[in-house]
Amino acid sequence: MAQTTLHTLSSMQQRGEKITCLTSYDATFTHWLNAAGVDMILVGDSLGMVLQGLDSTLPVDIEDMVYHTHCVKAGNQNCLIMADMPFMTYRTIEQAMTNATALMQAGAQIIKLEGGIWLQDTVAKLYEQGIPVCAHLGLTPQAINKLGGYRVQGRTPEQAQNMLDEALALEAAGASMILLECVPTSVGKAITEATSVPVIGIGAGPYTDAQVLVLHDMLGLSPGKQTRFVKNFMAQENTIQDALAAYVREVKNQTFPASEHCFE
Ligand code: KIV
Repeated sequence: MAQTTLHTLSSMQQRGEKITCLTSYDATFTHWLNAAGVDMILVGDSLGMVLQGLDSTLPVDIEDMVYHTHCVKAGNQNCLIMADMPFMTYRTIEQAMTNATALMQAGAQIIKLEGGIWLQDTVAKLYEQGIPVCAHLGLTPQAINKLGGYRVQGRTPEQAQNMLDEALALEAAGASMILLECVPTSVGKAITEATSVPVIGIGAGPYTDAQVLVLHDMLGLSPGKQTRFVKNFMAQENTIQDALAAYVREVKNQTFPASEHCFE
């Protein structure tokens, strides 16, 4: 199988094939994600919570992300690899360039930043220098202290319009993908229809071009009550390999996310 690129994903988007993405942080899980036919891997800063046992993603640093991106690259065959820029590693354009370079050299093909219009110049500069960017909007966990909790974003018409404007501005600046977390289905649909780059959703409804979940959540390994948008695929399967295959199948045939995983 050929290496998945941004071009591959955009062809899938154009022919209406849903794109599958899961987080991974090591070589072994990356091997099994490849075997299950996952299109894209996110080396998420969620590793702070699921690997390091932290209560937020804020303490994750660039060295952690570079290390885990190397691990994922070592186990990868053909998935596209996206890596997160951690909290406060893209405050200035210069800082963003240095840290994004480190992630690309570790094996990422695209980096992800959390935030809105204030990132326009950073996105433009990275893109100009050959570093594709995914802009993460909606619930942005690095801003948890400002947001006041892990809540659905974009509920009012003004907030929804603002998010749509931000998505369009970031696309115009050169963003190659948009990620929407924890937004009403109507907002996920409106942003997917208005933008031309692939939109990845997590708790953003069934209309986005791609779906992503945190690996440990969808395998039922994360302790505690799970948020509404998570489905435990191990509840219906006997092996991790079967659960990964079920995720791919259900995203592709559009049975996941179902209405019980979405927000009105
Ligand atoms: O870090 C992460 O895993 C993420 C997903 C929740 C989208 O950003």
